[in-house]
Amino acid sequence: MKLYVFLLCLATGASVFGAEVKSLYLDSRQPLETRVDDLLSRMTLEEKISLVHANSTFTTAAIPRLGIPCRWMDDGPNGVREDISPDSWQPAGRTDDFSTAMPVGICLAATWDTNLAYSEGEAIGQEARARGKDIMLGPTVNIMRTPLWGRNFESFGEDPFLTSRMAVGFIHGEQSQDIASCVKHFVANNQECERGSINVEMSERALHEIYLPAFKAAVEEADVWSVMGAYNQFDGQHCCENNYLLNQILKGEWGFKGLVMSDWGGAHDTKEEALNGLDLENGLDGSVARRGGYDGCHLAQPYLDLLKKGELPMAGLDNKVRRNLRVMFATHVFDPGRTNGSLNTVTHQMIARRVAEEGIVLLKNQNHLLPLNPTKIKTIAVIGENAILLQAHGGNSSGIKAFYEVTPLQGILNRVGRNVNVIFSGGYKDGGVDLTKQAIAAAKSADAVIYIGGLNHDLGFDCEGADRKNLKLPYGQDELISEIAAANPRTIVVLLGTPVVMDSWLDQVPSVLQAWYMGMEGGNALAHILFGDVAPSGKLPCTIPKRLSDCPAFADCPATYPGTNGVVTYKEGLFVGYRWFDTKRIQPQFPFGFGLSYTTFKYSNWKLVPGDGTNELVIAQFDIQNTGARDGAEVAQLYVHQNHPSLVRPEKELKGFKKVFLKPGETQTVSIPLNRGAFAFYNPEQKSWIAEKGDFKIMVGKSSRDIVLQGGYHLPESLSEKD
Ligand code: BGC
Repeated sequence: MKLYVFLLCLATGASVFGAEVKSLYLDSRQPLETRVDDLLSRMTLEEKISLVHANSTFTTAAIPRLGIPCRWMDDGPNGVREDISPDSWQPAGRTDDFSTAMPVGICLAATWDTNLAYSEGEAIGQEARARGKDIMLGPTVNIMRTPLWGRNFESFGEDPFLTSRMAVGFIHGEQSQDIASCVKHFVANNQECERGSINVEMSERALHEIYLPAFKAAVEEADVWSVMGAYNQFDGQHCCENNYLLNQILKGEWGFKGLVMSDWGGAHDTKEEALNGLDLENGLDGSVARRGGYDGCHLAQPYLDLLKKGELPMAGLDNKVRRNLRVMFATHVFDPGRTNGSLNTVTHQMIARRVAEEGIVLLKNQNHLLPLNPTKIKTIAVIGENAILLQAHGGNSSGIKAFYEVTPLQGILNRVGRNVNVIFSGGYKDGGVDLTKQAIAAAKSADAVIYIGGLNHDLGFDCEGADRKNLKLPYGQDELISEIAAANPRTIVVLLGTPVVMDSWLDQVPSVLQAWYMGMEGGNALAHILFGDVAPSGKLPCTIPKRLSDCPAFADCPATYPGTNGVVTYKEGLFVGYRWFDTKRIQPQFPFGFGLSYTTFKYSNWKLVPGDGTNELVIAQFDIQNTGARDGAEVAQLYVHQNHPSLVRPEKELKGFKKVFLKPGETQTVSIPLNRGAFAFYNPEQKSWIAEKGDFKIMVGKSSRDIVLQGGYHLPESLSEKD
């Protein structure tokens, strides 16, 4: 007993016979690796095993003997999810698990504001700490390959560069709060259809140029501390136990030092997991129950048995534990000064509002119908179920139990309700024809109509677990919008959710806003845009096609989507999103990067100046002036085109952007430095990124299809990754 007390004191640093004995691992002044080594050396085999698998839905076990606390993971990408029961997906039924609902990932991406991504990440990190969490399961950086993917709303859109920049900002912010981000889902989780088994086949170039960059940036630039493997297979091996992805690329080439966790129920075989790079198995599904609960996880008792039999190496387990411990030390789990966080502060609410204000995209605004001037309007008809539908809790794992949620109707009432007569009509969904009649009558009686429709988080729309069936507006909204526009030409259409086809009514309505899911301050943000308190500055992080058949993943269905015999082949290769539309000269409905403002911007003084001779090869420099009469923000986008590449390349590729906020008349000089990476493509034979000697076009545009400045650049010699 005495010996036990002595050991316990030694481990935890308590006082022994009055003297303070501090274990190395508890001493925050020690280097992280020293602390890891020290703690690892004190752990028994069983204790080590307990750290590499979950012991409830979202936790791993505590090891009180060593002062290791229970470790809490939680979703997700746009706020801290409510607590879930330990052994089922039912809510835990707590009353203290609310959080600030931020706008979803695609809305954040539409801001093109990396500082805001930092702020959102930081706020979520603070809330996660206040809720006692250690690892947050986000951001979702899978590329929007097809507009039908049910989780596009969580993503940062179709472009690897934009996705990378937003991810890096977000992770830096979140991890500044002693929380580990968990970037997900590694990799090629681009459809929900057969997500647990589908085997994805694609070229090495598509993998490296489209699907990996955001993960690479998360690891190399943002020092993300954890990565979640995807459910699907890649080249015939499940992603959570995929030697090529996890051992060779992630941990080998990129030098990732943190932990790889499985998606929930995404790991399948003890030996594969043990050998192919998985460090933490999560799961709550029938198979865990069948295997006798969490001790039956592949990385629990079965792993222990194989280790004891000598069929798997102990060093492999040590490596996994080391990675788990590293994340704990990096997030100061053992340190007294770990941040306590904060919940639902005014700052968090204002970040939520600002992301929504900056993320809403103005797609059309004929005759300057927007912004509406409330002093000149007596009656507004607000039509559409999405005006009153609560959205924050929807979508499955990224849903939030919000402290409150300002719906679009409430936001409009907050803004103009005292002076303007606001009438509401549901317009669609359950009511059928009667509802339509009511809506038309409301439209006729009003000075302007704000139609608020689009999608919602029901399964089959923007939701985890199933893809969308098509790109159409549900519930007969196409017909309804046409009828409303015929009844009142001053109709503004606000679409919530991810893109839909609009061709049947677009010509009939003067104004259209793409508003995604705007989080708990969304209604206020939308009202600020509608009534001109804020000028829209969002730009599309994805192409809006005219029809589904124009999209790259649909060129050879079903092989290219949703797959045949369990295999989906990304035949379009690199040509995802605008890379496809631009190269194939297909006219989209609205191009990538598009978004209008209430003011106007002029670009001028184009210059390409030599870089600093080291990393920067050349700097694109130009002025942007706000030539309108009100404040506004513009996102300048820089695209690169190679004139005669030795391997086929897309027509243009985004390689830089800058969002500038300008007062009327104000001019700002923008500089966008370009390094080797901006000119490079992945050469599969050389297995590295090559910027080929030769001529390039550098273009700056208001969207991918509205290039306003351009110039030629000659790269005098080829540069590879090793240069
Ligand atoms: C999702 C993950 C999520 C996890 C835990 C999975 O079904 O794919 O994104 O983090 O569940 O809720």
